[in-house]
Amino acid sequence: MTLQQNNREFEEFASDVARCLASKNKYLSPKYFYDKVGSQLFEQICLQPEYYLTRTEASILNKHAPLISKLAGSNIQIIELGSGSSSKTAILLSYLSSQKKRIYYFPIDISSSILTESERKLKLQFPNASIIGIRSDYDTGIDRATTECMATEEKNKKNKKNNNNISYTKLVLFLGSSIGNFELIEARTLLRSVREKLHTNDFLLIGFDLQKDESVLNAAYNDKAGMTAKFNLNLLARINRELGGNFELGKFEHYAFYSRERHRIEMHLVSKTDQQLYIGALGKTFALRKGESIHTENSYKYSLSQIGALAKDCGFTIERNFTDKKRWFDLALLSPS
Ligand code: AVJ
Repeated sequence: MTLQQNNREFEEFASDVARCLASKNKYLSPKYFYDKVGSQLFEQICLQPEYYLTRTEASILNKHAPLISKLAGSNIQIIELGSGSSSKTAILLSYLSSQKKRIYYFPIDISSSILTESERKLKLQFPNASIIGIRSDYDTGIDRATTECMATEEKNKKNKKNNNNISYTKLVLFLGSSIGNFELIEARTLLRSVREKLHTNDFLLIGFDLQKDESVLNAAYNDKAGMTAKFNLNLLARINRELGGNFELGKFEHYAFYSRERHRIEMHLVSKTDQQLYIGALGKTFALRKGESIHTENSYKYSLSQIGALAKDCGFTIERNFTDKKRWFDLALLSPS
């Protein structure tokens, strides 16, 4: 990470926190969950029995890796938005490499620590794949990855030992239902920008958490071991660490619930008392009333018809909806219309 990037991100975090704490409806982007500690806590969430999302998506991937691999052809460039530990992608990579395919993998993640660690592991596990990690958020990440893809194709063309017609199928991965963090209008913007980067024979494989019994959803975001609560509260700890805040974590409560009207899980940090908060980096004090909340995340749950409409709106055709028996999760394979 360059110093400049560091500064820009520090400034962005500081000004988002300032805006959040000064406004009436306090909201902070869920992207700030993922510092080193937060990314590790998220990995723990994925292992909780109540958090069915990761397990379910992994089992779908296991089952359908052969078909996805077949559609992708023999040379493949995988770009993954928000790769995290890449543990689900490893399922696909191991199938693809067993088929002796030429693989480029560009994992994109906002957390440098988890990216470095998973890059190291994957290079050992898949010595024949070219793995190039990109530390970035989604917006710039897609651009940088597509630039890298073009550069590798150019390099291959110039290399006389190879014949000139090696072409790569691009497969963009957006797993884990991270799309659920976006408002519909933002989700459209993101999918359209992915669509612009794809050619006719490329694919987008995207995970959606499906609408289901509320008790299942509520349990998934209120696990008994308290991992989700820790993950949520880590946001305040991060503000203390990076911005010199004086949040006392014990004065806040993790609150997550499913909103039927909005088809989303909402996560909040609710103040247990009237309190004053000082943020050193801002040199400012903010007041929070008892019962007031900081809204930290929305996680939208989709229906198959909403997924179809979103895909169509963004210039995609659904090749397949891969779902599990309970229809709890959908892995949609999209191609440009
Ligand atoms: C990474 C956005 C898919 O919404 O389920 C997990 C994040 N938040 N538990 C989700 C999360 C609380 C997760 N996503």
